[in-house]
Amino acid sequence: MINRKKYLGLWIIKLQKMDKESKLLLIDDIFTPSSPIENIELFSGREGQINAIKEAIREKGQHAIMHGLRGAGKTSLANMTLFLFKNLMSLKITCNREDTFNSVWERALRKIRFVQTDKTVGFISTDKTDVFPIEVPGKDMISPTEIEQILINIPGNMLFVFDEFDMIKSKKVKSQMADMIKLVSDNLPHVTILIVGIAESIDELIGEHPSIERCMKQIELPLMSDDEAKDMILKNLAYLKMRIDEHVLLKIIDMASGFPNYLHLLCKYAAKAALRDNTEQISLKHFDEAVLKSIENSDYTIKKTYSKAVKSSKRQGRFADVLLACALSDANGNNSFNADDVLEKYNQITGVFHKKESIHYHLGMLCKKERSEILIRSKKNNTTHYKFSKPLIKAFVKLKKHEEKIK
Ligand SMILES: Nc1ncnc2c1ncn2[C@@H]1O[C@H](COP(=O)(O)OP(=O)(O)OP(=O)(O)O)[C@@H](O)[C@H]1O
Ligand SMILES: [Mg+2]
Repeated sequence: MINRKKYLGLWIIKLQKMDKESKLLLIDDIFTPSSPIENIELFSGREGQINAIKEAIREKGQHAIMHGLRGAGKTSLANMTLFLFKNLMSLKITCNREDTFNSVWERALRKIRFVQTDKTVGFISTDKTDVFPIEVPGKDMISPTEIEQILINIPGNMLFVFDEFDMIKSKKVKSQMADMIKLVSDNLPHVTILIVGIAESIDELIGEHPSIERCMKQIELPLMSDDEAKDMILKNLAYLKMRIDEHVLLKIIDMASGFPNYLHLLCKYAAKAALRDNTEQISLKHFDEAVLKSIENSDYTIKKTYSKAVKSSKRQGRFADVLLACALSDANGNNSFNADDVLEKYNQITGVFHKKESIHYHLGMLCKKERSEILIRSKKNNTTHYKFSKPLIKAFVKLKKHEEKIK
């Protein structure tokens, strides 16, 4: 059976002949809210970050660290390194909680493949290609100098991508990794290391290591911009030969709040609703259906955190409105807002003038365990700031408000 993901390009050419049922199936390959992008044709935007990785690869001794919020699209971008850079062997290692320095590097080295091509000239000229792995010492034998010795003998440029690096909590492993980066930077100009993980800053991901500051390019992966989101939706709908009303497109972008998985969720269900309605034009009623389905299919922890936060016989609506005011206050996407911003939005949402104390009370309560600590409070320059403990909640809060309107 043809692998639709891999051969998506071929399918697109054949699309003219697709019936409704085939399109319904293809939607699941194109809009993938629960899995990172693996097919370059489905990858959108991120030009700045791709260029930054390119620069790190080009500059000898440079390495990079890419950090961003949960679900920002880090793994998808890491996957694209396999396709984007010519004359480079890209190897992606997914880190896990149990990993040590030795175990991640053992997996990394095992992924290396030598490719040898013999040109055989006869009646016809053929390229005979042999691919074989390298010999890797046992896990206990792996040391920085051993790794250096192996890598020094490998011809050609290499990029090692250590994804989900936030899974590694051990300070010792982080320090060992930093020392390894320094060693590679000094002695192996054909090797680039890219560390990827959830973090608000580079220090949070790898710790403070002055020795590697100069050789580490810091790449922040922000949430998707409105333009990136728009390009992604229109490109993917074009594969399906479907269209969308402009105001619905804008609504999806607004609801998703920059989180690509919510863009995928909403588009997936809106496109399915339209096809079931025997039309290829997505309109408001399909969007409404998609909102309900997206709530149902959101992460369990997001749903649980939200319902605990707003739960109350009397104040449920108020807490939901305050949370919406928080989501709307975070206009620049930094996941940070203060009580004044929230009060202004809260007054707009409710159409009532509330006192400052009321908003302080609600924000304070939303930081408590009994309200699932949905918000986190911090002090910056003598001002109290708040943020969502799980940034994805920002999109969920908007979906819930829309649900209230349509139910
Ligand atoms: N550039 C992109 N173009 C289109 N879709 C994207 C893009 N980046 C991410 N996505 C989609 O967004 C969702 C989240 O992507 P991904 O898993 O790569 O994020 P992540 O930052 O690695 O998440 P986590 O923090 O949980 O590891 C997936 O549904 C993926 O298909
Ligand atoms: Mg990831």
